[in-house]
Amino acid sequence: DPMARTKFPPPDFVVVANRLPVDLEKLPDGGRRWKRSPGGLVTALEPMLRAREGAWVGWPGVPDVEVEPLVEDGLQLHPVNLTAQEVEDYYEGFSNGTLWPLYHDVVAPPAFHRHWWQAYVTVNERFAEYTAKVAAKGATVWIQDYQLQLMPGMLRELRPDLKIGFFLHIPMPPVELFMQLPWRTRIVEGLLGADVIGFHTAGGVRNFRWLATRLAGAGTVRNKTNEVTVGRRTITLGAFPISIDSKHLDELSRTDAVQKRAAQIREDLGNPSKVILGVDRLDYTKGIDVRLRAFHELLEENRVQVEDTVMIQLATPSRERVEHYQKMRDEIELAVGRMNGEYANIGHPAVHYLHQSLPREELAAFFVAADVMLVTPLRDGMNLVAKEYVACRHDLGGVLVLSEFAGAAVELTSALLVNPHDTDGVKETLYQALTMEPQEGRKRMRTLRKQVMSHDVDRWARSFLSALGLDT
Ligand code: ADP
Ligand code: G6P
Repeated sequence: DPMARTKFPPPDFVVVANRLPVDLEKLPDGGRRWKRSPGGLVTALEPMLRAREGAWVGWPGVPDVEVEPLVEDGLQLHPVNLTAQEVEDYYEGFSNGTLWPLYHDVVAPPAFHRHWWQAYVTVNERFAEYTAKVAAKGATVWIQDYQLQLMPGMLRELRPDLKIGFFLHIPMPPVELFMQLPWRTRIVEGLLGADVIGFHTAGGVRNFRWLATRLAGAGTVRNKTNEVTVGRRTITLGAFPISIDSKHLDELSRTDAVQKRAAQIREDLGNPSKVILGVDRLDYTKGIDVRLRAFHELLEENRVQVEDTVMIQLATPSRERVEHYQKMRDEIELAVGRMNGEYANIGHPAVHYLHQSLPREELAAFFVAADVMLVTPLRDGMNLVAKEYVACRHDLGGVLVLSEFAGAAVELTSALLVNPHDTDGVKETLYQALTMEPQEGRKRMRTLRKQVMSHDVDRWARSFLSALGLDT
């Protein structure tokens, strides 16, 4: 019993995600240290949850470690252990070898393996049982993302007293693609255990509603496109576009330290007239190859020169034991090596590529230093990087180039929108961004900032939780 081992009061508000907001790191000397977890889910939820003093249930990021629950800055952290085999089958396998590519338009082919599915069921059960023991009577439990889609139904069985919300951080795919999944009905039924199911976009709501009626026999109510019924229960579906802690990032970007660091970065680059930036988890959905190709062709056509236009790609290591990721990393690094081989001069590489995770202040400095931000995913649930760039540009400088296939494109319509499958289109848009009149750039950035500064992650959380019936 996890609560028996702790002195914490049972929490009224519990977030459950595959990962805790911090990752346990095993140091070479045998010691351990917590570091921030990668990805947009943690970026978005951490500030929200700290403000609410709840509890977070999740995996500490390394296999086979028993970690006691702990309190960090008023936030209870409840670690769920996974064995090395479960990490392989549930996390790397079913979550990231089946669901992730399937839900991202099969950009890479998903693999369907029955033993992966089995592990997915087992781990979802473990999360449900653990959470059932932690949550206070009548508590609100907010389950996150594709790794835990069976959990709402399992938790409801164990604890009918709870209010259960679920939010999907990745796209709810077109039904024709979802229908490939051998376990499609179980997944839809699992999700329907929640009281509120949230997606980033209205398209996601439509896709899920169709699946719920066809696969799980859910009922619909005329004129209520945001509800389905299962037996006596009514389930609310909604589009809740996630966001960032806009104010915090805006303030951080204005600090002396960040401004000085941004100037230093430009100087270190040799004071080029234009800096192009990409910032991503190293993932095949992000279209890093697309932007490298576009920049490569501009160099080839001699429309830009390395002495005055440089590209920086910052890439956080991600899911490094999954095959698609290994292959893609090789391809990206080959492309970067080729471009530098062909176009660099001594002291002037064409592309600066860092396969590293950077601190938030350092990232903010790169955003401040960049004239053009390239966000070109083939498919992305939201893409917080696009919003982070905008939040860092109170100077109204910088041009955002954004894929139409990122959820963020629904809100950020004043960006230069591109189809990442259209290499000529991306290339010409990159050129347009590099040569844009400052006045037009400022106008666009002003509009983008209105959206990002007024729609922050706290507003996202409040709108979801009020759909759950919480007084926020
Ligand atoms: P995803 O959730 O798929 O990773 P998002 O764009 O929504 O994509 O979120 C990515 C998050 O990871 C952002 O908060 C971004 O700032 C952060 N991030 C991306 N690359 C790096 C990096 N190299 N170092 C540190 N943080 C990074
Ligand atoms: C995306 C997913 C998250 C995930 C994050 C990092 O944001 O939606 O659920 O946590 O990527 O990926 P990882 O596999 O390292 O947790």
